Amino acid sequence: MIITKQLSKTFTTKEGDIHAVKKLDLDIKSGQIVGLFGPNGAGKTTSVRMLSTIFKPTFGGGIVGGYDILEEPMKVRSVIGVAPEIPGLYPRLSARRNLKFYADLYKIPKYTQDNIIYKLMKEFDLDESIDRAVGGYSKGMRQKLSIIKSIMHEPQVLILDEPWAGLSPDASRDLRAIIRRLSQDRTILISTHNLAQAEMLVDRFIIISNGEKIVDNTKAEMTRKYELNPKVSITTMKPFEFQKLDNSLDYVKQVEADKNKAEIEINTVDHIPDLIEHMVKEGARIRTVKESIPSLEEIYIHLIEENGGNN
Ligand SMILES: Nc1ncnc2c1ncn2[C@@H]1O[C@H](COP(=O)(O)OP(=O)(O)OP(=O)(O)O)[C@@H](O)[C@H]1O
Ligand SMILES: [Mg+2]
Repeated sequence: MIITKQLSKTFTTKEGDIHAVKKLDLDIKSGQIVGLFGPNGAGKTTSVRMLSTIFKPTFGGGIVGGYDILEEPMKVRSVIGVAPEIPGLYPRLSARRNLKFYADLYKIPKYTQDNIIYKLMKEFDLDESIDRAVGGYSKGMRQKLSIIKSIMHEPQVLILDEPWAGLSPDASRDLRAIIRRLSQDRTILISTHNLAQAEMLVDRFIIISNGEKIVDNTKAEMTRKYELNPKVSITTMKPFEFQKLDNSLDYVKQVEADKNKAEIEINTVDHIPDLIEHMVKEGARIRTVKESIPSLEEIYIHLIEENGGNN
């Protein structure tokens, strides 16, 4: 579990104070996969660093995995797994040596270490490079290794900062499956800009902008709450003048059209039958009709714009 109360961080620099995180309240139970989103510089990594006890908050505090981040930072560290934005690995050591070093820190019994390490390396398709120095790994390989390092001890709380950075589509899919497998009875917090990956995995969405939490919701609740107009995608057998619909029908809000296909924003889904009927009367030969649910990206951009961006 992750609970924070007014968690805040101010950096004092020569140019003045930077309020990177402002009074962040979180309450994340185990069994949830939570996404942390926000523009560059919003305060995601700073929040993650406070939760993983790398940075001390300047105000407020929190409990992570049952321990207080201010009072018991070492205990917090023993029950969490963190894959940081920049992977911390020893370049001159092999992957095996790197992982064994952390396995000792996490007190994984010696006799099980080889097994656990090999299984995860294989799962991420790195088994053939297990004895190569990590300095010679590609960016994606290093990223995979950093994730293995963070999950090796099956931590209660898993915190991943940009886990998909540099991963190929197949590796991204493997990572989703692994996260899903780990998610039962655990708390997983993923900070990312990769909304497409997150959308397939995350139960709950937290958006921060300028150090402040502006959204904390499930996707269904977000779509409802922010009342994005529904859209319908229509294709026709022959070219159709979709643009005309925008002028002639008051329930049509916006039309984005090509010759044979269009995405039409409407007031409510109740108007879909009327729209189809109207088009048929106008001579359209309709091929397909599909309601298009707003993507997480659309919702995200809508919310960030509504909040005036990040600066
Ligand atoms: N060590 C530091 N010293 C001074 N300022 C810092 C430090 N770390 C972060 N900041 C500032 O705090 C703010 C939040 O940065 P942070 O790295 O948390 O953003 P982020 O949401 O992770 O962004 P990104 O999406 O680019 O990774 C930024 O204005 C950044 O410049
Ligand atoms: Mg960051």
